[in-house]
Amino acid sequence: MSKIRWGLLSTANINRRVIPAIRESARGELVAVASRSQESAQAYADKWDIPLAFGSYEAMLASDAVDAVYIGLPNHLHAEWSIKAMQQGKHVLCEKPFALTLAVVDEMTAVSQQTGCYLAEAFMYRHHPQTKIVGEMMRNGRLGRVTVVRGVFNFAFSTRDNIRLVPEWGGGCLWDVGVYPLSFAQYVMGGPPQRVFGTQWLGESGVDEVFSGQMVYAGGAMAQISSSFCTPFHTQVEIIGTEGRLVLNRPFTGHNDGDRALMFYPKDGESEEIAVPEEELYLGEIEDLHTAVLDNKPQYLTLEETRNHVKTVLALYESARTGQVVSL
Ligand SMILES: NC(=O)c1ccc[n+]([C@@H]2O[C@H](COP(=O)([O-])OP(=O)(O)OC[C@H]3O[C@@H](n4cnc5c(N)ncnc54)[C@H](OP(=O)(O)O)[C@@H]3O)[C@@H](O)[C@H]2O)c1
Repeated sequence: MSKIRWGLLSTANINRRVIPAIRESARGELVAVASRSQESAQAYADKWDIPLAFGSYEAMLASDAVDAVYIGLPNHLHAEWSIKAMQQGKHVLCEKPFALTLAVVDEMTAVSQQTGCYLAEAFMYRHHPQTKIVGEMMRNGRLGRVTVVRGVFNFAFSTRDNIRLVPEWGGGCLWDVGVYPLSFAQYVMGGPPQRVFGTQWLGESGVDEVFSGQMVYAGGAMAQISSSFCTPFHTQVEIIGTEGRLVLNRPFTGHNDGDRALMFYPKDGESEEIAVPEEELYLGEIEDLHTAVLDNKPQYLTLEETRNHVKTVLALYESARTGQVVSL
């Protein structure tokens, strides 16, 4: 096998960001889309110039024409369809949040091990050069000892008809966008927190429409994250260390959405804008599957990290419900 033939499992809105990345990748080919009706699949295939259109997800998974699937379903369906895909021998790139309980994360991981299929959480920003530069700065000690990571991801809906507002579908702003600063903090800290405290505003929908979380890590470093469904678009990450402060104004979103400045403010001396190579935001997660499957390389974002993301979200929700600090 020298190429990976991709199928899109659903006609999700987010596909529009992943399709150009598959097409730009050196060894990926977009061959199929599946939808819950043949009409919808065919209309989507025509619009995006995709060769094969399947009128059910099962039909695409049964096809020998597809090697890997991208799963952009509502959150409560991620696990079910990832497992079905792997059982049909398909490699899986599954949207965040990966799953809504730890038991299900473990089940998905077990199926990946049993079938030998690649399985990864689609945190696209983790693969981008900007995020890797931050990792390099952490390793070479430029920030000194990290004391606090602060991160935010807010946006506001244009309509209320949205999968993110359905409680039993894994709705809520922490599951949807709070997971970005949360995962960034864990990337910087090198693991999950020891204890967390969360607070939320529940909307009329019954899901958290504002969520704020405080996390404490081994050694005492802290993270503060917030997310929202009802305030203007805003993303930022700030990493505060004893030797300086690093600010990412576009930590999670593409450069097409605005400036992508990475600024370092050292303890002594002038502030410095750090250059970030341009790269299609969704390309890295696609290439990671290719190198893992075709070159037998380890996947970059491990399932252990993914498990820690889910574990921390669940602890934050428990804390918000009970008003108590929760230990992990
Ligand atoms: N990584 C990122 O940058 C990013 C950005 C946005 C969203 N996401 C994630 O991607 C996922 C999809 O988000 P989205 O905004 O693209 O969703 P969306 O546009 O609402 O699409 C979800 C798709 O799921 C399918 N589906 C199956 N059962 C469904 C049901 N009961 N109700 C509604 N749709 C159902 C539908 O496809 P068919 O009708 O074709 O079957 C639908 O098009 C979410 O998990 C979200 O967290 C990730």
